[in-house]
Amino acid sequence: MRMTSHAAIRSLKSTVILPIVALVAVTACDKDKPPEPAEIAVHMSEHFSRAADLQRAVVNGDMEAVEGTANWLAEHSKMSGAPASWDPYLAEMRAAAEVAAKSPDLYTAAKATARVGAACGDCHKGHGATVKFSIDGALAEGGDTEAHMNRHVWASARLWEGLVVPSAEVWQTGAKALDEVPLVPEEVTDDDELMTEMQLAANRVHELGAGARQALDPDMRAATYGELLATCSRCHRATGAGQI
Ligand code: HEC
Ligand code: HEC
Repeated sequence: MRMTSHAAIRSLKSTVILPIVALVAVTACDKDKPPEPAEIAVHMSEHFSRAADLQRAVVNGDMEAVEGTANWLAEHSKMSGAPASWDPYLAEMRAAAEVAAKSPDLYTAAKATARVGAACGDCHKGHGATVKFSIDGALAEGGDTEAHMNRHVWASARLWEGLVVPSAEVWQTGAKALDEVPLVPEEVTDDDELMTEMQLAANRVHELGAGARQALDPDMRAATYGELLATCSRCHRATGAGQI
């Protein structure tokens, strides 16, 4: 029975961890004109997918992929025609990405990745930007491991969205979804040592959900989100959960 729920989770492998943003048609960049909203949307969708890759790399504990994607974010150039008002925010985002790229360990990378998200949110807020996410499906129900993992994924996508938009309301939705009955390690393994490790990580996720509800500013939110990514990664490493 135990292996059944494990296998069921495995079947979720193709599920995308983070929300996908609907794309708007591409138009070529013209150096002399300020960018059109559709051009910004395309440019941003690239930010967005790189930032999603970065988070996936962190959860997978893949430092090489962390370095590659974070470097892209740290080095890619400003959108042509974008106003000077973008500069300080871009600098903030690049600085966070650079810390992630040069991280000596996964924990540092996780924290810096969350800082990248907060930097996205700072620029959006500073420019009154409207950012919309489309997140598939509703919060999964049920007490088995698969439903739990689905809720983790859903909740962390909401937290990320809350950071990037930024939106206190969406952040709280994600926080609430994490702050629930922890995952039951016995459903996944018979190994005592592994069970202990999983229990610690599961408790930590639960704790972070409660903490997230109290995180009222971008700094606190980024700190909480970074801890969360590190905890996902830690349990995945312990359980050999494989690449997401
Ligand atoms: C308590 C341990 C634990 C924690 C904490 C944890 N996971 Fe998992 N996760 C697992 C296990 C076990 C699997 C199943 C792997 C398998 O069956 O190959 C899994 C699978 C997944 C999958 C893929 C499902 C599949 O089809 O393999 C995703 C995506 C995922 N987790 C995301 C996350 C995210 C995001 C977090 C943090 C918010 C997180 N996990 C936290 C243990 C954990
Ligand atoms: C330097 C400023 C700046 C930074 C940094 C920034 N953005 Fe944006 N972003 C904008 C502006 C301006 C818009 C346009 C919003 C509008 O049309 O109202 C936007 C729009 C978006 C949109 C909506 C696009 C659409 O479909 O309309 C998404 C998604 C987005 N950004 C994601 C991100 C992510 C993820 C990051 C960080 C990795 C990021 N942005 C960093 C300025 C920024």
